[in-house]
Amino acid sequence: MKNLGILLSGRGSNFIAIAENVASGNIPDSRIAVVVSNRADAQGIETARQRGLNAVVIPSKGKAREEHDREVVAALKENKVDLVCLAGYMRLLSLWFVQQFPQRILNIHPSLLPSFPGLEAQEQAFAYGVKVTGCTVHFVDEELDHGAIIVQKTVPVLDSDDEETLAARILEQEHVAYSEAIRIVLEGKFEIVGRRLVGSKR
Ligand code: GRF
Repeated sequence: MKNLGILLSGRGSNFIAIAENVASGNIPDSRIAVVVSNRADAQGIETARQRGLNAVVIPSKGKAREEHDREVVAALKENKVDLVCLAGYMRLLSLWFVQQFPQRILNIHPSLLPSFPGLEAQEQAFAYGVKVTGCTVHFVDEELDHGAIIVQKTVPVLDSDDEETLAARILEQEHVAYSEAIRIVLEGKFEIVGRRLVGSKR
């Protein structure tokens, strides 16, 4: 049984998709051991409580990055977390945090990285005029939206789209992609060659 730790700061729709796939056995042999938010008003933390999950608020406001990271890592370790899933967690992790969970931290980003890293990726892609965008689940390193890619899903940009309709279709794919990536990582049948995640035969 693998313990997942979810970190979020807001709405929590990716968290819900993961929770549903854990509950249905689509992500096998796993449980959500803890949900951590750096914001007390995050909708996701409320949802976690309603679902009877272990939900913890660790405020980041006014704290140095490493101080906050130490508190979050302590909560993850207390709950024996094997895999950390950032799901709309609006904080850059310190190198120290990343080193506590080598190749055990995932993030989802609403664009095809390395295009459009950072905030409002869907709006960036829309304004740039790309015809295809999507989402990326990747390992986290100490650089923003940067680690090795695990899963990507493409989404066409339609002439009839605006920022909202495009973001909504990307979000649907995020909900599929994140659980797929978690399954791949928990299964462990891969190696990382340079930046490339490739299947291994073991
Ligand atoms: C998603 O678009 C995700 O890709 C980005 O933050 C957003 C979080 O949405 N990192 P939600 O809180 O999971 O609904």
